[in-house]
Amino acid sequence: MAGILAERPDARVLVATGSTPMGLYAELARRRAGGALDPSRITVYQLDEYAGIPPEDPRSLLGWLVRSFVEPLGIPLERLVPVPRDGDPDACARYDLEVDRAGGYDLAILGIGPNGHLGFNEPPSDADAPTRLVELAPETIRANAAYWGSPDLVPRRAVTVGMRGLLAARTILLLASGAHKRDIVRRALRGPVTPEVPASLLQRAADVRVFLDRDAWGEP
Ligand code: PGA
Repeated sequence: MAGILAERPDARVLVATGSTPMGLYAELARRRAGGALDPSRITVYQLDEYAGIPPEDPRSLLGWLVRSFVEPLGIPLERLVPVPRDGDPDACARYDLEVDRAGGYDLAILGIGPNGHLGFNEPPSDADAPTRLVELAPETIRANAAYWGSPDLVPRRAVTVGMRGLLAARTILLLASGAHKRDIVRRALRGPVTPEVPASLLQRAADVRVFLDRDAWGEP
């Protein structure tokens, strides 16, 4: 990622929250603090958000993105583009149009959900799914309960950048770690390409680089 940002200092970068990329962001912040990297000119696009959660709510994914990525990397808040957090269809369509007009994403940093979702594109999600309001899948609610203490505290609906936009990113970094991701990683990378495993659609994307720890790939 540091190499890509060095080549394209004004990159448009779609950025995930979740636990997986936190080590990457901390390492980028370390390099920036040491003067080895200057990401201050990139534009950051939020990947997803719980619907109807204000930015000051502790569960806000926008707040998490600011704390873990935008601030530590010295990116001015004016160059942070949130997803339309109420999921209004017109606002989502305008958002996709503006990203297209700007030239699409240069780089997308993605994790993978236990059900194969990317962002909150829950199964089934087609390759041309736009940015939109979605109902969260039960597996996602269970997985995200770990962050907020209980499934009851996980909002039921969310807004996600659509498959169409993220699959068109010039470069995609897919990150996964832990044995609990092994099955879904195999299905996504080696299984059939199907909307039932949205991450399997990455097999058709132009430039995908996959970073896994041994638990997420090795033999059981
Ligand atoms: P995680 O989330 O990084 O917290 O595992 C990934 C995801 O649900 O996409």
